[in-house]
Amino acid sequence: MTELLHNDTVDVLLNRRSIRAFRPEPLSPEMTATIESAAQHVASSQYLNDWSAIRVVDQSLKDDLAAIAKQPYIAQAPALYVFVLDEYRNMVIARKQGGAVDSDAFTLKNSYRFTQAQNDAVLALHAMETAAESLGLGCVILGSILNDIPRLIELFHLPKYTYPVLGLAIGKPAQEPEVKPRMGADLQFFDNRYNDDPSFIMRNIAEFNEEVHQYYDLRDPNTPLPTYDAQIAKKAVAGEVLGRGLEHAAKQGFELNR
Ligand SMILES: Cc1cc2nc3c(=O)[nH]c(=O)nc-3n(C[C@H](O)[C@H](O)[C@H](O)COP(=O)(O)O)c2cc1C
Repeated sequence: MTELLHNDTVDVLLNRRSIRAFRPEPLSPEMTATIESAAQHVASSQYLNDWSAIRVVDQSLKDDLAAIAKQPYIAQAPALYVFVLDEYRNMVIARKQGGAVDSDAFTLKNSYRFTQAQNDAVLALHAMETAAESLGLGCVILGSILNDIPRLIELFHLPKYTYPVLGLAIGKPAQEPEVKPRMGADLQFFDNRYNDDPSFIMRNIAEFNEEVHQYYDLRDPNTPLPTYDAQIAKKAVAGEVLGRGLEHAAKQGFELNR
C-alpha cells in the first residue's frame, strides 16, 4: 500500500472520530470565533452564502433537541449548532433590490438552489468540525435532530426559504474512541468509470466486514459491532429515517419539483 504523507491537517482528518461524551467545560470565546470563522470560509455555490447556523445556547433548547433526537448526550454538549440551508437572507436582499421574489421568476426556492445550499451548509459544518478537532475538541454530527422537522422549524423560528440540514455537537472529549475502520479505497475510488460489478464489491468487502466486527463502539463497549454487511442489510430497510426527508420543504416555500 502506498504510504500516506503526514502533516497536522492530514493527521486531524485521519484521526477523526465521532465524540459522544463531553467534559462540562464551555468553549473559550476564541475557540468559538475560530471554528465559526473556519465555517464561514468554505466555498459557496455561486457565492450565495446560502446557509446559516443557530447556536443552541439555552439549556431548555438543548434538552428539546436531545429529546427529538432520542440521544441524551446532546443535552450535555458544551456547544451545539443547527445548520440550516438558507435562501431567506438572499430573498430579503433581492427583494430590497427590486427583485421579483414573489413571482415565478424567483428561483432561489427551486431544487437546484436547495441542493446547492444544502451542500454549502454541509461544507461549512465539516470545516467547523475539522477546525474544532484541530483545537483538541471533539464533535458529532447529528442527523437525528431531523426526527421532527416541524418542531425544529418552530423551536428555532426558521422562516420561509430555510430548512434544517444537520446538527453539530462540540466539546472537550470525555472519551477516547478508536478511529472507526473504513473500507478499502478500491471500493470507493474508481478510475474513469463506475465499477458496478457485484462480485467485485462482495469480494472486496469481505475483509472490511471482519474489521468492522472487531471494532467496539463505546455506545455498547461490551459487544463487537455487527459485520458491515449485516449493518447495511438492516439499515437498508429501517423505517427510522422516514419523516427526516424533504416533505416539509413545500411549507417552507421551496418548489423542489422545479
Ligand atoms: C450526516 C450524518 C449524520 C449523523 N447523525 C448522527 C446522529 O444523529 N447521532 C450520532 O450519534 N451520530 C451521528 N453521525 C455519526 C456517524 O454515526 C458516524 O460518523 C459513523 O458511525 C462513523 O463513525 P466515526 O464518525 O466515529 O468515524 C452522523 C454522521 C453523519 C455524517
